[in-house]
Amino acid sequence: MSEPVAGWFEKNEFLLRRLHSLSGVIPIGVFLFEHLLTNSMAFFGREKFNEHVHWLHNLPYLTLLELFGIMLPIAFHAIYGVSIALRAKPNAAEYPYFDNWRYTLQRVTGYVAFVFIILHLAHFRFAHWFGGEPYVGTADPFELTRQGFLAGALPTPVIALFYAIGTLASVYHLCNGLTTFCITWGITVGDVARKRAGLAFGGLGLILVAWGMMSLRALASLEPDLTRGATPAAHASSVPPSTPAHGATP
Ligand code: HEM
Repeated sequence: MSEPVAGWFEKNEFLLRRLHSLSGVIPIGVFLFEHLLTNSMAFFGREKFNEHVHWLHNLPYLTLLELFGIMLPIAFHAIYGVSIALRAKPNAAEYPYFDNWRYTLQRVTGYVAFVFIILHLAHFRFAHWFGGEPYVGTADPFELTRQGFLAGALPTPVIALFYAIGTLASVYHLCNGLTTFCITWGITVGDVARKRAGLAFGGLGLILVAWGMMSLRALASLEPDLTRGATPAAHASSVPPSTPAHGATP
């Protein structure tokens, strides 16, 4: 990096750290919450899931919303997050206290989320770049998602495990991040308030993980009758084809 560029980053460190902190909650955290909620609809059946996904895909200005509301904020948060994580001085091995582990885990889960988000986007949202079917505009997103798990390039349990790890890491990162966000912005002052926030966001984390696992159970299960409200016709069409339909890894 040339001197003036490095100098600009140093001079604006406070602003960049605040933007990084804010972007983790709005819009990325809000998006993660909404995304896990929509996915969990798969547990209640094909129709419910498709209804939610079609509503999202029909939002006005979808491309602009995705670009400025999701992609660019994630790119900023992730790239600046890597630069923060690389400069971090984790000391949980020398001082194995709860807060030191949380600090280390926040960085580790950031790296895991980084890899997970890129592969997940390639797997579904941008699968058509790699020879798969376009996700936006598909008539049956439930089926397309299922095929991503059942007929992907890797065995279904491997893909499901990858999604379970990515979901756990992202949820931990968001919920632990919400507690540090409240400290950073002066929302929780004092030990009692911080403990209460930790408990509340821990509870939120359990709900989000439950949503994530419900979706995985419905979408990545080899048993077709695990989704509530699935019809016999839906079962018939949820049998994986003999050739991979979805192109990209994992
Ligand atoms: C699932 C997507 C993500 C969400 C929802 C998210 C959310 C958050 C939140 C809410 C915070 C707390 C901000 C604060 O303490 O004020 C945070 C911090 C952080 N994030 Fe993320 N993040 C995501 C992805 C990433 C990625 C991909 C990286 C890349 C390594 C990353 C790196 C970091 C780092 C290093 C911190 C700590 C910053 C600090 O202590 O000042 N995040 N994130």
